[in-house]
Amino acid sequence: MYPTLLTIHSVFRWLVLAALLLSIYRAGRGYFGKISFTNIDNKIRHWTATVAHIQLIIGILLYVKSPIISYYWTSSDNSLDSVEPSFFGLYHFGFMLLSIVLLTIGSAKAKREKSDEAKFRTMLIWFSVALLIIFLAIPWPFSPWANRPYIRNF
Ligand code: HEM
Repeated sequence: MYPTLLTIHSVFRWLVLAALLLSIYRAGRGYFGKISFTNIDNKIRHWTATVAHIQLIIGILLYVKSPIISYYWTSSDNSLDSVEPSFFGLYHFGFMLLSIVLLTIGSAKAKREKSDEAKFRTMLIWFSVALLIIFLAIPWPFSPWANRPYIRNF
């Protein structure tokens, strides 16, 4: 169960990033190009939020199953070796949750805006902030806090 969840969560990161990049591209193109907010833009907005929500659920399941998280909650070790448990137990979880909340608010606000310009602007701002936080909180191979592979294969 744990390795499967980890692999799915790892792969899903690319879907989250691709969906956000596509949304931000469409929002920027629509806002600066002053074009209409189409049904395709609306679907992209909706699916980006949905993909992020699925990742959140997988993340929560992983949080319950992960040995690193149980180590974080049970160990009193404060040495440098405990950077990874704190990263996943506190920061990764907290920042990812924050980013998904921001993305959800942005998506809901964009949906309710009256003008096409306001829809694009709202999406552009909220999704860009969410992407920035997500990018910083991913344990990239080059991250200073915790390193995981680009693609996980067991
Ligand atoms: C957009 C949101 C998220 C993205 C892009 C993301 C991405 C990642 C990536 C790339 C990894 C490394 C996977 C690997 O080891 O190959 C990871 C690990 C992990 N994530 Fe997330 N994550 C997100 C949200 C969350 C949330 C909200 C939680 C908790 C509620 C969470 C919990 C975890 C845990 C516990 C691990 C590490 C588990 C372990 O190594 O044992 N993630 N995440």
